[in-house]
Amino acid sequence: MEKIESFEQYQQIHKKSVENPEEFWAEIASTYSWKKQWDNVLDWEFDTPDVKWFQGGTLNITENLLDRHLASRGNKLALIWEPNDPKEKFVRYTYKELHEKVCQFANVLKNNGAKKGDRICIYMPMIPDLAIAVMACARIGAVHSVVFAGFSAHALSDRINDAACNIVITSDGLFRGAKEIPVKRVVDEALNTCDTVDKVIVAERVGWMPNMVEGRDVWLHDELEKADKYCEAEEMNAEDPLFILYTSGSTGKPKGIMHTCGGYMVYAGYSFKQVFQYDESDIYWCTADIGWITGHTYIVYGPLLNGATTVMFEGVPTFPDAGRFWQVVDKYGVNQFYTAPTAIRALMAHGVDHVLSYSLDSLKVLGSVGEPINEEAWNWYHIHVGKERCPIVDTWWQTETGGIMISGLGSSSPMKPAHAGYPLPGIQPVLLDKDGNEIEENGVEGYLAVKHPWPSMLRTIWGDHNRCQKTYFSHYNGYYFTGDGAKRDENGMYRIIGRVDDVINVSGHRFGTAEIENAINRNEKVVESAVVGYPHEIKGQGIYAYVVCSDVESDEEILKAEIIETVVEEIGKIAKPEKIQIVPNLPKTRSGKIMRRILRKIAEGDTSSLGDTSTLLDPDVVEKIKEGAKLLE
Ligand code: WTA
Repeated sequence: MEKIESFEQYQQIHKKSVENPEEFWAEIASTYSWKKQWDNVLDWEFDTPDVKWFQGGTLNITENLLDRHLASRGNKLALIWEPNDPKEKFVRYTYKELHEKVCQFANVLKNNGAKKGDRICIYMPMIPDLAIAVMACARIGAVHSVVFAGFSAHALSDRINDAACNIVITSDGLFRGAKEIPVKRVVDEALNTCDTVDKVIVAERVGWMPNMVEGRDVWLHDELEKADKYCEAEEMNAEDPLFILYTSGSTGKPKGIMHTCGGYMVYAGYSFKQVFQYDESDIYWCTADIGWITGHTYIVYGPLLNGATTVMFEGVPTFPDAGRFWQVVDKYGVNQFYTAPTAIRALMAHGVDHVLSYSLDSLKVLGSVGEPINEEAWNWYHIHVGKERCPIVDTWWQTETGGIMISGLGSSSPMKPAHAGYPLPGIQPVLLDKDGNEIEENGVEGYLAVKHPWPSMLRTIWGDHNRCQKTYFSHYNGYYFTGDGAKRDENGMYRIIGRVDDVINVSGHRFGTAEIENAINRNEKVVESAVVGYPHEIKGQGIYAYVVCSDVESDEEILKAEIIETVVEEIGKIAKPEKIQIVPNLPKTRSGKIMRRILRKIAEGDTSSLGDTSTLLDPDVVEKIKEGAKLLE
């Protein structure tokens, strides 16, 4: 699999991939090791939808992550783990060592009753055992469902129940900046409302003595002692599920996005190689958490499929100080660095001195992901981190797409601040107008959709295929709809504007407004609520909640604190509303529909052009909300 080295070459390859997608992907797929060759490259239709890649082929992704490299890269570093506290010792595993660790962990799973097809929930901090657990599941053909360790017990139990997981892998606690958090306690609480789980495997991280339930909970280190160091890789069909990862939609409960073994593998490896232009001796670092899709594809799967050295970081960008990222870059000589705009903006606020204290000479490619990167942050990243020498790849993609869809390819594509750029080979994005017609010309704006399948696209929403059809394939017939709006400039470069549905992107994390409203409404004093996003200097978007309460006599500050507490219990700290405004009523039409457009404008501080309010049941309420909003500023 060759790297694309110029824009002309990219254009030719992209053209070829559109003219003959099956031939294009078959060639790439054949660079991996399969236990059995596929019969059909692709069968698909976007109505139901039904998409199958590499049908008839069998494989195990971990043989491609690990075994395949043993002969040529056995002693090469596969994983470098940097702890939260720089004073603690780092951990390094060669491919040979990582292979052994994964096999051993896989045997622990088997010894604890895990079988092919089981769903295993992983709720863990960013420690090596998390990456190993993910691969151990894949080794035995169990479906991993990683839940970000910042989610609450309630959110965790919802996810465990949705996938009917029988095992949970967790840790005693976690370190995050200056904080220590009792992870196992959250699992215990979650399991009060789950009856499918019969085993909990606990890794030791902070050295606490959590409550261990007899017959259910076991220590990972005890189990490893009993486990064999070799484990045969389970033979999987290309279309067998590899993992489920939950993400928020515009309505109701989170969706379990399902990815498959064959297609996901092919695209994770290919996109990693092309976007980051990884060379054999490079050190690559993605700062995401494995609890999100970026961590799945670009900390674990993509890099290891390419035999790369991947860095995994437990900590946060500002601990012990705002130079932490750059210190780690220099410490390991990181060549490719991949982070989120929200981290860049947070570091910008701490001043440039933290960056200038480090050399950063090793850097070759910088990446951005998760939300639109504003020009100011882009320039800061380019000038101070990349020293105007490193290309920035602004990578647009989604949990559902499995891998990067629109992005520069290292230095082989033109770049333009705040523009993701061109689609990867094999990807066919389109802009649609509101009636679903493709807009052909350049210099336009529309709804971003994709018209042809790619190997790592989601196959379904776990347990609810109908919802998958409705959410992604029903808005515009024959297209996968992304939920994003985008512009295409005169040269065909894409600029992502943001979500056009009721999804708020806070620091690169997706939340559905309905999900947060449901959480707020669980508070007894709340009658109803409406949540909108508003521009936030560091987080990209902040959560603004308008809340109607029954107990108007109460102290507003106490009420607000209680509402926040409810959200933290229901979802987690990451979904805390930035602003809460107690309002007498919500602006509703006569048919009872909340006019979110007005609430969004008020939250943005733009009250001059609220548009037509005459259809409101009670137009006066808008004035009252406007006045209240001023007090919050
Ligand atoms: C947004 C994260 C602009 C977008 C990989 C998308 C972006 C949602 C970019 C998916 C980018 C992601 N520029 N917006 N480079 N990358 N987004 O599922 O709105 O957590 O739909 O996947 O993040 O978020 P998710």
